[in-house]
Amino acid sequence: MDTLVRIFDTTLRDGEQSPGASMNVEEKVQVAKQLAKLGVDIIEAGFAYSSPGDFEAVRRISHEVEGPVVCSLARAKPEDIDSAWEALKGAPKPRIHTFISTSDIHLKYQFRMTRKEALRRAVDMVERARGYVDDVEFSPMDASRSDPSYLYEVLEAVISAGATTVNIPDTVGYALPHEFGALIKGIRENVPNIDRAIISVHCHNDLGLAVANSLSAVINGARQVECTINGIGERAGNASLEEMVMILKTRKNLLGLDTSVNAEQIYPTSRLVSSITGIMVQPNKAIVGDNAFAHESGIHQDGLLKEKTTYEIMKPESVGISRSILVLGKHSGRHAFRTRLKELGYELSEEELNRAFRTFKILADRKKEVFDEDIEAIVQDEILRVEESERYRLVRLSVRSGTDIQPTSEVELEVDGRVVKEKGTGDGPVDAVYKTIAKITGTKSRLLKYSVNAITGGTDAQGEVTVRLEEDGHIALGQGSDTDIIVASAKAYVNALNKLEYRKKEKRERLI
Ligand code: KIV
Ligand code: ZN
Repeated sequence: MDTLVRIFDTTLRDGEQSPGASMNVEEKVQVAKQLAKLGVDIIEAGFAYSSPGDFEAVRRISHEVEGPVVCSLARAKPEDIDSAWEALKGAPKPRIHTFISTSDIHLKYQFRMTRKEALRRAVDMVERARGYVDDVEFSPMDASRSDPSYLYEVLEAVISAGATTVNIPDTVGYALPHEFGALIKGIRENVPNIDRAIISVHCHNDLGLAVANSLSAVINGARQVECTINGIGERAGNASLEEMVMILKTRKNLLGLDTSVNAEQIYPTSRLVSSITGIMVQPNKAIVGDNAFAHESGIHQDGLLKEKTTYEIMKPESVGISRSILVLGKHSGRHAFRTRLKELGYELSEEELNRAFRTFKILADRKKEVFDEDIEAIVQDEILRVEESERYRLVRLSVRSGTDIQPTSEVELEVDGRVVKEKGTGDGPVDAVYKTIAKITGTKSRLLKYSVNAITGGTDAQGEVTVRLEEDGHIALGQGSDTDIIVASAKAYVNALNKLEYRKKEKRERLI
């Protein structure tokens, strides 16, 4: 049997379904280029029919990203399939991924269809997709809670209709590893034409078992795993790509399976996705968490100093974590800056590079040492965020605060291209600035979370502020960084307000 486990990355589709994780088109293209560098086999670039933003992201990734198969999700509906093809047609290797539920509970309450109708629809839509592309994936949603005999019947029919990959989702993260493995084995033994398709799996992490279930599936014959960077995704997320890949690599002797992923790009990709989505990686997260390779106990440190393999099953360098953290300083040139940006996963145009380099020089004058995190913050603040579609832009601000005066602020904000000035007061300097920005923008949003972190060590470190806003059920995360934490706070708030506007616009334009 084939030993290659294909890695299907759905960070830009299922990953983007994480609350607050919306990415604009430019950001999605950046992530997709980095996924190509990482060497994933398939990129699910979005759900073309769902909104103009998703359509544009799939279209641009199809044109601009070389290497992986580019895929669009589509419900089992003619308009979805047609739109997926429209968006994908510039891709050298396009794939349409269509789905419909097969569990009785979904069919009865959500789709209001009989089993027979769902099967017919699945077959018709796979045939329609095959009219456009040779590479068609079909997912029976909620497969793990479906009647296996009906599932086998649907899989056989869609493979006969031309599906080249059949993806088995554990949509609600309910399965247990031995049970999910048995389901894959059952499919191999009971679907007569299964040798004409690749079995894929798509596991959610509601019980913390997404990776374990995916592993059990590949042991039982699945040869594609759908996953996301940092395990982000709907609710508790999807199987984490970095964990899946490092299991395959680290335990290759036992598993005998291969992956084409270039593991040294794992860490840069994780950082890129985290800084773009604003979703932090928990410190103890396997492979990419801050503590994943940190040894605290004296006994462990002693062992490591004598022989690394005593307590280290993987080298940090093998996933792209470099042991030297110092990067650049004020004497560093443009070439070194560009090289480091590339290593961090950012491909900038000449004009963007010039802009980022100017900001880097200003920062390097204020700070002795410029770290990777500082460089990422520059790209986030200066490049990816500069979008014509952004309504608000911070022009300048000043605050007065101290032990015996009421904090006051003066803020200048560009709103739809026009500069507006306001003054305000608050309980503290950040509160004063936020109230003034709220006055200018008229926002009705609620601040759910405000946190500030020093990006690196030292009192000259940049502060990185993260805010979470909510308005009418829309959630937006914003980030901002600066050596002045009041400025960082204002940038984060403005960034979150822009994202909220983007979300509201997407919602208005969203067709489903
Ligand atoms: O979780 C799920 O079932 C999905 C499908 C669309 C594959 O995301
Ligand atoms: Zn999913």
